[in-house]
Amino acid sequence: MTDFFRGKEIPTNKETTIGNVGWRSPSNIALIKYWGKHGRQLPRNPSLSFSLSNAFTETIVNYESRAYSNDKASLEFYFEGKPNEAFKLRIQTFLDSLLEFFPFLRQTDLVIESTNSFPHSTGIASSASSMSALALCLCSIEEKLTGEMTKEQFNIKASYISRLGSGSACRSVFGGYCIWGNTKLNSKYTDEYAQGVDLIHPVFANIHDDVLIVSANEKSVSSTAGHQLMDNNPFANTRYKQANQKLIDLTSSLAEGDIDSFGKIVEEEALTLHALMMCSDPSYILMEPGTLEVISKIRNFRTGTGTPIYFTLDAGPNVHVLYPQTAKQEAQRFIREELLMHCERGRQIQDKIGTGPQKITQFSHVES
Ligand code: DP6
Repeated sequence: MTDFFRGKEIPTNKETTIGNVGWRSPSNIALIKYWGKHGRQLPRNPSLSFSLSNAFTETIVNYESRAYSNDKASLEFYFEGKPNEAFKLRIQTFLDSLLEFFPFLRQTDLVIESTNSFPHSTGIASSASSMSALALCLCSIEEKLTGEMTKEQFNIKASYISRLGSGSACRSVFGGYCIWGNTKLNSKYTDEYAQGVDLIHPVFANIHDDVLIVSANEKSVSSTAGHQLMDNNPFANTRYKQANQKLIDLTSSLAEGDIDSFGKIVEEEALTLHALMMCSDPSYILMEPGTLEVISKIRNFRTGTGTPIYFTLDAGPNVHVLYPQTAKQEAQRFIREELLMHCERGRQIQDKIGTGPQKITQFSHVES
């Protein structure tokens, strides 16, 4: 870790400070998947994602600094307006691991309030949006207590801290497309934090992602456990090599507006992720019969009509249906008429690419 990430002490002349900060931070969907990690939340291969618009977490942190120091963070935590012990425990452990990055945590009482825009029990993972919202709040408090950072420094530290909370969360700090992880594509990218992808063809600028809820049941194997199983997966090294190449190829498709190669790579990635689960030791399957029905219908519809509509999958059974703005009407009609029948209670969450986190001010309106 460089000194840059180490936090500054609160200046001794600073009197007790009371305040609040808030951030709305989105979830993101990976097109090149992060699957396998080592050390302190470092990825085995680079990943590429885009931030969503409608699926987000809003976190508000009320803070009050005090004269004496503790060796752990002091925390009250409310989720959707109610105390939540399970989440509090996870956040307490996370904050206690961050004392070197945010020394102010030793002498500040925090009351954290968090809500998600997407309903419970939809099988949508919230760690990317929630961990990035919290990291952004911590960086804002540090800035208020110890002095301003440039926007770039702020985003880099927020992404770095988000990564420590949940790997994929580091990609939620930026709007649009971003890359996390060392890659031969460009030496500016690093395993430590994510950064935006600059060159995106207009065809991908307003991409949609409708999440079809095939099953809202809790996953039998968590992502964290899944990452661990990569350590003994016989195909792991080939997979990491392949992900590196696919990321380079996908970046070209994104720059050139080549939607056919985009779709081919994205779908291969989704199926590779699940193939890796199926050949782990022990093996496991997170797809459901409905997942395969939806995938097969998407492919047939695309071949039959030429509509550019593709799928990707997270570590779960729900299908993310991707299509450009120009295909919106046909794609949404097809989803309504042919795909929702495979979803739990016909549920979907319609989303699209977003512009990244927004700071909450006055706690009555949001600003970018
Ligand atoms: C399949 O970021 O949830 O969604 O770092 O253990 O919190 P932890 O894992 P997490 O893994 C996400 C895996 C994925 C692919 C991706 O988002 O790149």
